[in-house]
Amino acid sequence: MINLVHFVAATALLPTLIYGQKWHKRDWNVTSSGGSVNITNGLAQTPPMGWSSWNMFGDDINEELIKSTIDAMEKNGLRDAGFVYVNLDDGWQRYKGGRKDHPLEVDPVKFPSGMKALADYAHSKGFKLGIYSGPGDETCAGYTGSEGHAEEDAKLFASWGIDHLKYDSCCSHHTAPKEEVQKVMLDMSQALIATNHSVVFHACHCGWADVWEWAAEEGANQWRIGQDISDDFNYPGNREKYYFDVLDMLDRGNNITQYSGPGHWNDYDMLIVGLNGESKQLVGTGASNLEYRTHFSMWSIVNSPLLIGSDVRNLDAYSLQTLTNKDIIALNQDPLGQPATVQAQVGETQIYAKEMSDKSIAIALLNRGSATADITMSPRRDLTVPFDVYTLKDLWTGKTRGPYDIPFTVEVRPHEAKMYRMYLVEAAAKGT
Ligand code: GAL
Repeated sequence: MINLVHFVAATALLPTLIYGQKWHKRDWNVTSSGGSVNITNGLAQTPPMGWSSWNMFGDDINEELIKSTIDAMEKNGLRDAGFVYVNLDDGWQRYKGGRKDHPLEVDPVKFPSGMKALADYAHSKGFKLGIYSGPGDETCAGYTGSEGHAEEDAKLFASWGIDHLKYDSCCSHHTAPKEEVQKVMLDMSQALIATNHSVVFHACHCGWADVWEWAAEEGANQWRIGQDISDDFNYPGNREKYYFDVLDMLDRGNNITQYSGPGHWNDYDMLIVGLNGESKQLVGTGASNLEYRTHFSMWSIVNSPLLIGSDVRNLDAYSLQTLTNKDIIALNQDPLGQPATVQAQVGETQIYAKEMSDKSIAIALLNRGSATADITMSPRRDLTVPFDVYTLKDLWTGKTRGPYDIPFTVEVRPHEAKMYRMYLVEAAAKGT
């Protein structure tokens, strides 16, 4: 299950200089082998933000956990920072085993008040509720799936007031031909739209079948670009010959940014910030505070959905500060919806950048290596933008530096990303 794209991307990181790639075009223009469909629910104009139960808890979830998560996110500022989707992943269903043998029902022991009551609770506190199913007879964790019942299940989810569906074909359709995956995803997408209830649709196919090429046309709002993330920043190779770490995911995303934009996003997988190697579900030994911060910065600038995966009821102050940095979140939620691309690469350092809706430039200076490195950024050479005099707002310290009329050099620690917003000096003088 090792993915070729991953290794091609990794070996491309040679100590060469690559400068001045063009901004990618915002108008995505893909032809799918499905061909004729082009539907949209009009949702997720910026990447969905929230929390998902899987990375920390696996299928060990229940009503009390979800309600206390909602309460915690209301109190600790996560909701107000934009994290409003509270998504149940696999394990809410009553039955283990296939749909052929069981109906799709809520587990009455885990969720005694039922799903409608939980959605009402979420809504009353300004959140949205997400749920999980898949097009197979069984889901990945072996619970009853939606095979043959897309319409009925879409109606059921809508009747509960569900706002987000992760529809997971990773296990049931892993080896299925692309056309079959396209069909089952389209069935659910159309069924959701037909309910007239707003449900963000995640077509989760673990980065297979070139899902980014066709899922948007089928009305999907997000799709995973790879297999599951592990709780690692940079594990040598793939843990268990399957999982991707933070740097792997970034590499996978680099060549497919043109498919991501308002309403349809490349999903780099749920966040690992704050897991600290303590997940009940994910493999991995955890990352340092700085590495988690870099992970969050990079997911933000490439416009991945931001779904927190840790136990938000017990977040330490550093993790909370990481997740609620408004300047970093603003990169992710910018209405232009342009994902950052790699503009320059020298040895183990990279410059990611993207244009923002106010014409400023968002920049990440990423040090992937294990030694401190100087990174130099020249607007004209690296970003191909005609900025002669510019200021830089450091998005982690909040301080503005400059104005500069020469290239900017900064020391970047191992696995750190320095994050900046660059303004033309005239614009900065007006305070924009
Ligand atoms: C996997 C998926 C995970 C999680 C899990 C649930 O296929 O990649 O994110 O949803 O299924 O069983």
